[in-house]
Amino acid sequence: MERKETDVYLRLDPARLPQHIAIIMDGNGRWARRRHMPRVAGHRAGVAAVRSTVETAARIGIPALTLYAFSEENWKKRPKTEVDFLMRLLCRYLQAEIKTLNENNIRLKYIGRQHELPESVQREMEEASDATSKNTGMLLTLALNYSARSEIVDAFRSLAEAAARNGGLDHMQVDEQTISDHLYTRGLPDPDLVIRTSGEMRLSNFLLWQLAYAEIYVTQTLWPDFRGVQLLEGIEEYQKRDRRYGGLGPDGHAPQSTSHRTHAEAKR
Ligand code: IPE
Ligand code: IPE
Ligand code: MG
Repeated sequence: MERKETDVYLRLDPARLPQHIAIIMDGNGRWARRRHMPRVAGHRAGVAAVRSTVETAARIGIPALTLYAFSEENWKKRPKTEVDFLMRLLCRYLQAEIKTLNENNIRLKYIGRQHELPESVQREMEEASDATSKNTGMLLTLALNYSARSEIVDAFRSLAEAAARNGGLDHMQVDEQTISDHLYTRGLPDPDLVIRTSGEMRLSNFLLWQLAYAEIYVTQTLWPDFRGVQLLEGIEEYQKRDRRYGGLGPDGHAPQSTSHRTHAEAKR
């Protein structure tokens, strides 16, 4: 760990690390523009940020990290040259990273409409997730061609299909748990912390269901400048927050000091 990273790490409470962190990696284009470079140079520089963030998260024992790499809207609304570049960059990242992911015991998965991506990209994706499927450490999820609204649409379709197979729509069970179980993120705990880089104050169609009670941390840092130390700073800020889940503090007011309740405790 570099010096600064160690300093921030020592200020953290290791017993209260977020169990799932989600990151909206934004600002690649602005990073490049400031340097009078083409937008794609920002995407290329963003890979080093991914490496550092993933490595630090795994090292400090974060169980799950989800990175918003590419939205369905990005795929539909950006010039073909930029989209093609991102696809090539993704393939190169996957090939180059398998070794490091395995060394760090990281399992790789994806969320998003994978089947709409080019077949060659889908093959690389499968190869990388297969190659890391036996790892037992951090779960790294890449959101690729992801849209939270599409995810919810797909969940409802899959709920209806499951009901049709099990005696018809009269047997369709709809509650929070069954909806969660039909999302792409089934099995994952909801993120405790969502980080967005480059100062934008919006969710941009990311994990709308799952982020219901996540703490939001927005940093001005542009994604290509983000490193493990900035991740730790985000966690430090997270640990100062009061998570109330709609409730009150022990004295019947919103607590003045940091509440350390877990989700389960707060629900009681
Ligand atoms: C984030 O950077 C990467 C993707 C969305 C793929 P942007 O490309 O959105 O960068 P800005 O927001 O234009 O600076
Ligand atoms: C969100 O960033 C998507 C990803 C980081 C992949 P965008 O740059 O696409 O979001 P908007 O357009 O600013 O909302
Ligand atoms: Mg952007």
